[in-house]
Amino acid sequence: MVNPFKIAVIPGDGIGPEVIAEGVKVLKYIQSVDESVSFEFEYFPWGCEYYVEHGKMMDDDGIERLKQFDAIYLGAVGYPGVPDHISLWDLLLRIRKSFDQYVNVRPIKLLNGAPTVLKDVTPEDINMLVIRENSEGEYAGAGDRLFQGKPHEVALQTGVFSRKGTERIIRYAFDIAQKEKRSLTSISKANALNYSMVFWDEVFEEVSKDYPDVETHSYLVDAASMFFVMDPKRFEVVVTSNLFGDIITDLGAGITGGMGLAAGANLNPERDFPSMFEPIHGSAPDIAGKQIANPLATLWSASQMLEFFGQNEWAEKVLSLIEKMLVDKTVLTPDLGGTASTSEVGDHMVQLLKQL
Ligand code: NAI
Ligand code: MG
Repeated sequence: MVNPFKIAVIPGDGIGPEVIAEGVKVLKYIQSVDESVSFEFEYFPWGCEYYVEHGKMMDDDGIERLKQFDAIYLGAVGYPGVPDHISLWDLLLRIRKSFDQYVNVRPIKLLNGAPTVLKDVTPEDINMLVIRENSEGEYAGAGDRLFQGKPHEVALQTGVFSRKGTERIIRYAFDIAQKEKRSLTSISKANALNYSMVFWDEVFEEVSKDYPDVETHSYLVDAASMFFVMDPKRFEVVVTSNLFGDIITDLGAGITGGMGLAAGANLNPERDFPSMFEPIHGSAPDIAGKQIANPLATLWSASQMLEFFGQNEWAEKVLSLIEKMLVDKTVLTPDLGGTASTSEVGDHMVQLLKQL
């Protein structure tokens, strides 16, 4: 018996449980045919429904209990009736912060067969890896609401950029760019954010000296947003702050087939704590419960998880079969122009794995 990878499954809200079911289906199939791979799944019923019942998004000892896992596989959280800042902060951000998952890896890659809203672009034109700072910056949670409800009310939200936090994310991105022999682009906003982003640019400059073989570029976030649309070829590996990374990766999803195809990994590279794998999209209340959500983003996150476990062959197989499904166009959900249900897409992935 091989040592199992321990996976905590948090399906969450809305379409979360629907898409996660397909990811678990595929992982279970893999372990059933490969003796050298074994997973142990434990489910946690946390999320907005749990909040309505118990007044909290997760159990008080939730973080302590999650600690013993190798990875967390998360659907999505958030539902009408529970304020979004509560569902986000009390579950998702709490996990990211408690487990120091300071790297958010989001591939912005136009797969073969995937639709794009851009004209005249091919998969060679959009192939980036966005490395987003995931632990501090604009999402540090530092601020206050003063004089609430009064005419002179003041809201403060401060960005926090530590040397350690800034340097480690930039270094992580340089390591990848160097290993993959690709250029690295830093996206910031030093003209307007004259403290935090000037600092960011300085650290980028400093760290770049240790990687003389890596070609570097630096963009302001507004210009970068334009070039994501007009000339995405410019970008290979990208490193950016928490807020900018959040926004430009949704923009990236928009040019590579939409939210149903956008995956993300929240990594604690030192592996002191579990890392978390999730689709970028939310709980999509507008389509929840209808079995029409696209599970491919969640399957892509499973591929990222397999890679993190060192199961590179399986990781590549899953990703290449996602691509095959996009090219074949026979079993796709309505967001990609098909008529298949969420679970039919998962079943088809298992069928394709069987035929390999
Ligand atoms: P959303 O990503 O849930 O939905 C945006 C649009 O994309 C909707 O029209 C939805 O139907 C569509 N969509 C999303 N995922 C899809 C999929 N897999 N297949 C087909 N279509 C899909 O974002 P929205 O509407 O802004 O937020 C809804 C809720 O989700 C909110 O409560 C929000 O706070 C939460 N949220 C949670 C996230 C997370 O758990 N990581 C991330 C983003 C939002
Ligand atoms: Mg987002």
